Amino acid sequence: MEVKEVFKGVYRIDRRLATLNLIPGMRVYGEELITVNGREYRTWNPYRSKLSAAIMKGLKNMGIKSGADVLYLGAATGTTASHISDIVAEKGSVYCIEISERSMRDLLKTCERRKNMLPMLEDARLTNSYAYDVGSVDILYQDVSAKDQADIFIRNSVFLKKGSFAYVAIKSQSIDVSRRPESVYAEFISKVSMHMKLVEKTILEPYDRMHLFAVFQKPY
Ligand SMILES: C[S@@+](CC[C@H](N)C(=O)[O-])C[C@H]1O[C@@H](n2cnc3c(N)ncnc32)[C@H](O)[C@@H]1O
Repeated sequence: MEVKEVFKGVYRIDRRLATLNLIPGMRVYGEELITVNGREYRTWNPYRSKLSAAIMKGLKNMGIKSGADVLYLGAATGTTASHISDIVAEKGSVYCIEISERSMRDLLKTCERRKNMLPMLEDARLTNSYAYDVGSVDILYQDVSAKDQADIFIRNSVFLKKGSFAYVAIKSQSIDVSRRPESVYAEFISKVSMHMKLVEKTILEPYDRMHLFAVFQKPY
């Protein structure tokens, strides 16, 4: 099998995307483990992870790399966050903010083994309650199904270092089911653009039909 590094810590094995497993032998969501030349990789399913889908769709700006500190809003049970944990590896960290106690129960199991994933049962609107623990970060990543997604994203950009990237999966149906998704996306982008610069956006079809994936950069 041929392994090609598409971004630092992100690999293509044959036609599949994968990350190097930080905890060999451990699966997080039933993903396939593949060993090539003594290194174990976790396949990264674009139908289960919007970041994987965005990479498959040709994402250009990938700031997530070894040693990065990532603030992840809407970690759920840790599917995407665990792949980010593989990429940032031991020297990086993933602050996993999640509001649902039910999701947190599963997330905790993953975080017990993955020491660079720090679970926080918090509402991403209430930044003051986790500001002290998070400090400043290299990456902001948001995937929350909430009506006020844009406000949450803007509020949390305070943690982001200048010049760094912020990634967001925008779910128009959570914002307003009655409007055309294109108009909801445009409003989100125009609101956030008052604080950060849009550098890239992509629809995630055929992997996901419900979100627009966008990348912003905090000004210097
Ligand atoms: C689509 S799921 C995230 C999936 C996950 N990002 C992944 O790829 O593995 C959205 C998550 O956002 C969480 N959420 C919604 N509102 C939130 C808020 N205000 N603060 C923190 N998490 C929130 C939900 O509980 C849910 O787990």
